[in-house]
Amino acid sequence: DWTPAHFITDTVEALKQQIGDQKVIMALSGGVDSTVAAVLINKAIGDRLHGIFVDNGVLRKDEFESVLETYKTLGLNVKGINAKQRFYDALAGKTDPEEKRKTIGGLFIDVFQDAANEDKDATFLGQGTIYPDVIESVSVHGPSVTIKSHHNVGGLPEKMHLKLVEPLRSLFKDEVRRVGRELGIPDDLINRHPFPGPGLAIRILGEITPDRVALLQAADDVYVKALKKHNLYATVWQAGAILLPIRSVGVMGDERTYEYTIALRAVTSVDGMTADWAHLPYDFLATVSNEIINNVRGINRVVYDISSKPPATIEWE
Ligand code: XMP
Repeated sequence: DWTPAHFITDTVEALKQQIGDQKVIMALSGGVDSTVAAVLINKAIGDRLHGIFVDNGVLRKDEFESVLETYKTLGLNVKGINAKQRFYDALAGKTDPEEKRKTIGGLFIDVFQDAANEDKDATFLGQGTIYPDVIESVSVHGPSVTIKSHHNVGGLPEKMHLKLVEPLRSLFKDEVRRVGRELGIPDDLINRHPFPGPGLAIRILGEITPDRVALLQAADDVYVKALKKHNLYATVWQAGAILLPIRSVGVMGDERTYEYTIALRAVTSVDGMTADWAHLPYDFLATVSNEIINNVRGINRVVYDISSKPPATIEWE
């Protein structure tokens, strides 16, 4: 019988065999999959797992600091790299969604490779690949269609000559979560919504600037905190705010305002391939709208996305 406890025992044993006395380098994202994979590898080889967590400038508000803190609590050997400015410089002037994805994916590999070059004796590359990634990387990137260039799988270059360690390759997401709980990883990390590799960069339509990122981080933070506070976070598969950098007219006191709009997105889904917009309570939406408009200078309008996938996608870019 498959149980998380058996899986952990067997996997840690297999990892010890596979890795021997070598070192593993691994990029961590703050998500469930890479964290569970890292904790398993850490159980097998301890500090010979060298984790790298990159601040690409388009993470959620305070995410870099809080995730690093969680890794520390879990006993993981992880180095945080602040590469924000490099990403902002590379993204400057880019407006096309696929170009933004490629820029972030490419620069991420450069930053990771720089870190790997400083860590010459690592011979393995750890990855949090799960079973649906294995399937999706075939179907999404089939020979005739590339829907969106997801870069979770196979993103890190073959030319690094590292052997892969992928302890979650046979698991579905719910199994990964069960293993994570059994490993004692905190619930708020285990129950996290999926978050795309290109982060908030594909939730700011058009050009990315540090100011726009700060605006979106503030609005998104209000939204996510409110979802948690009203016990709605766990009822949706994914949620986030999107910054629409077009101006519309509003009024505040005696003054006319001319500011940006925030779109709120929340969907229910099983695997992200199809999704329905979540019927969040009107009262809740009213509360979040007020809180964003009253607290985030630069936003004077909030709308709710009532499109399902297909034909809309979950992300706006
Ligand atoms: P869409 O927008 O295609 O999203 O309906 C489906 C799921 O995939 C995530 N997503 C991405 N994840 N890199 C990622 O790592 C990407 O470029 C990317 N684009 C979309 C999205 O957040 C949703 O969970």
